[in-house]
Amino acid sequence: MRTLKLVALAALAISAVACSRDGGSSSAPPADAPASAPTDAEKAAALAALPAPYNTGDLSNGQRKFALCRSCHTITEGGPDLTGPNLYGVFGRKAGAKADYNYSDVVKAAGFVWDAEHLDKWLADPRGFMPGTKMTFAGLKDPKDRIDLIAYLKVETGYKPAP
Ligand code: HEC
Repeated sequence: MRTLKLVALAALAISAVACSRDGGSSSAPPADAPASAPTDAEKAAALAALPAPYNTGDLSNGQRKFALCRSCHTITEGGPDLTGPNLYGVFGRKAGAKADYNYSDVVKAAGFVWDAEHLDKWLADPRGFMPGTKMTFAGLKDPKDRIDLIAYLKVETGYKPAP
C-alpha cells in the first residue's frame, strides 16, 4: 500500500517536471521564432556605443522617466499607437512621419529628422519647441533626466549608430 503511494507520488513528481520543462523558459525556441528582445548585456553594449554624453546615461533612471510617457507611447517594435505614436525606430526618422498616425500640422511640417539634439529640446518643453503640437506633456526639466531618457530610448527603440 505504502509503496504504491510512493510510486504514485514519484510518477506525479516526474510528470510535474516534464510539464514545467515543456512550458518553461528553458525550452529552446523554434528555429523560426522572431529574434528575441536584447539581453541586458546587449543593452549595456548598445549604451557604451552611443555618442557622449549618452554613453554614460543611466538606463534604469531612463526607464523610470519613461513612466511619464507610457500612458501615451509604446516603444516596442510594432507596438500600437496610443494618444501619441509608437516610438520604435524614431531616431533617424523624419518628425511626423510614422504611417497611420494622425500628427498635428506643426509636427508634420517640422521637416527635421529626430536625433538626440532635437529630442532633448522637444522633451524639455514640447509646446515651447513646437507651438501647436498636440503632445500635452509639460516637459522634463532636469537635463540629466533627459540624457538618461534619451539613452534609454536609443537602446530600446532599435537605434543603430552610423558605422
Ligand atoms: C499626454 C500624452 C503624451 C505624453 C505624456 C507624451 N507624449 Fe509624446 N506625443 C504625444 C502626441 C499626441 C504626439 C503627437 C504630437 C503632434 O502630432 O503634435 C507625440 C509625439 C511625440 C514624438 C514625435 C514622434 C514622431 O514620430 O515625430 C516623440 C519623439 C515623443 N512624443 C516622445 C515622448 C516622450 C519621450 C515622452 C515622455 C517624456 C512623451 N512623448 C510624453 C502624446 C504624449
